[in-house]
Amino acid sequence: MRKTITLQEFIMDAQAEFPFVSGQLTRLLTDLGVAAKIVNHQVNRAGLAGILGEAGSENAHNEAQQKLDVFADRTFMRILTAGKSVAGIGSEEQEDYILCGDQGKSGKYVVMIDPLDGSSNVDVNVSIGTIFSILRRVTPMGEALSDQDFLQRGTEQVVAGYILYGSSTMLVYTTGSGVNGFTLDPAVGEFFLSHPKMQFPETGSIYSINDALLSEANPATQRFIAGCREAPELGFKSRYIGSLVTDFHRNLIKGGIYLYPSTKSNPNGKLRLCYECAPLAFLALQAGGAAEDDLGSILGKLPENLHQRSPFYVGSVHLIQGLRSCWMENQ
Ligand code: AHG
Ligand code: MN
Ligand code: MN
Repeated sequence: MRKTITLQEFIMDAQAEFPFVSGQLTRLLTDLGVAAKIVNHQVNRAGLAGILGEAGSENAHNEAQQKLDVFADRTFMRILTAGKSVAGIGSEEQEDYILCGDQGKSGKYVVMIDPLDGSSNVDVNVSIGTIFSILRRVTPMGEALSDQDFLQRGTEQVVAGYILYGSSTMLVYTTGSGVNGFTLDPAVGEFFLSHPKMQFPETGSIYSINDALLSEANPATQRFIAGCREAPELGFKSRYIGSLVTDFHRNLIKGGIYLYPSTKSNPNGKLRLCYECAPLAFLALQAGGAAEDDLGSILGKLPENLHQRSPFYVGSVHLIQGLRSCWMENQ
């Protein structure tokens, strides 16, 4: 019988293989797994919130019931702050970054997070996710963190991953040596390794874009999508859920390309560089896929601010190459 490996065992084995990996990172990854289970539990109860929340709409701690993305944000903040390995957190839900204990003077790592991605899908019971990115602090230990600790290139990521709250709940992450996916068994409350060494198929037949943006999108994107549509022999399918994590995950398994383009009214697109594009780009490259913005590398971009937006194209290498050819034709 095949041995089942839990997320915790997997993290510990990885630490043993790389003696230079500190216990702090192991602790941090473990904490992310714990927070994922708490948020998952709440996500699963989302449809009941209106019924169970009727009595004054307060939870067990006498707090007013929160929207799920605030709940997710608070949960990750609380658990990561308590763990001592995180010096600071940049979150989609917070205007400015948060310094953890002692003004961020201790703790080796900085976390960037989209606590709940695709949250407009919560009300209609469609899969949503969490995206996270872990960076090493740049400021020496013992000093207060500054902007430069948060505004780092994607190439500096130590870990990137996501949690997908879907028909099953999965945690998928990379530490820079491949991508592994774990599925939560709700009966025992453990993540088990279910998708070892995930790989983007080299090509695929899925394109994912918000079709309503197309008339406004840059000409390369327009040409690429027209090419997919005008060649029925290629068998392209359009699939767009509107939860980035979910669209990314499907394309990673089946092969495809996700596009959130620059448009006339939004030259930087919509998605955020630090906690949406960069972590998914790192995962894509680690899984043998590719990721770009209008000009080239996503991972090489130095963010100017925490919530900076970026056009984003990610998926199977052949499809990204096809898109790149459309940019060339344009010049
Ligand atoms: P978030 O819920 O974190 O704000 O992210 C929403 C994002 C992403 O998940 C999704 O792919 C995209 O917005 C959808 O945007 P459109 O509705 O413009 O297609
Ligand atoms: Mn998001
Ligand atoms: Mn979000």
